[in-house]
Amino acid sequence: MHYYAALVLTVITGLTTAALPAQAKNMFLTKHNTARDVAHVPHLAWSAALETYARNWGLKCLWQHSNGSYGENIYSSSPKKNNLTVLARSAADMWLAEKPSGGHYVNMVRNAYKHVGCTIVHCTNAPLNNFVICDYSG
Ligand SMILES: *[C@@H]1O[C@H](CO)[C@@H](O)[C@H](O)[C@H]1NC(C)=O
Ligand SMILES: *[C@@H]1O[C@H](CO)[C@@H](O)[C@H](O)[C@H]1NC(C)=O
Repeated sequence: MHYYAALVLTVITGLTTAALPAQAKNMFLTKHNTARDVAHVPHLAWSAALETYARNWGLKCLWQHSNGSYGENIYSSSPKKNNLTVLARSAADMWLAEKPSGGHYVNMVRNAYKHVGCTIVHCTNAPLNNFVICDYSG
């Protein structure tokens, strides 16, 4: 009974439950750290804890910020794309296009941040078929 309820919940919310593959994670890190080189601020390191935080929020499939204690960037697109590396690049490029003063770009290069963790969730509700979230902390 409990197993059945959990299964249904998974089906109607997000569909990605695993950690990001290395190539997608490296895409996020490279995009952030290249921008940080240009902005003359230190590199970010990956945080598995932030990645898990982002994923747990993403799996709720709500087009909102989590409003927790971290900086947070979100991106969504439809229809579903399976290549997580391509999605990581699309999200980061959209945020970078806000340079110099847009909030997503500013999060990417904020000097006070030292860690980033991102996730990509495939929700069934458009426009969240590809839902990308990065969280940031000091
Ligand atoms: C986060 O804050 C925004 C802006 O106030 C609000 O629209 C949104 O519902 C909040 N999200 C949650 C999960 O409370
Ligand atoms: C995803 O796209 C990247 C970058 O174009 C490519 O290197 C990689 O092989 C693709 N992955 C899959 C599983 O198709």
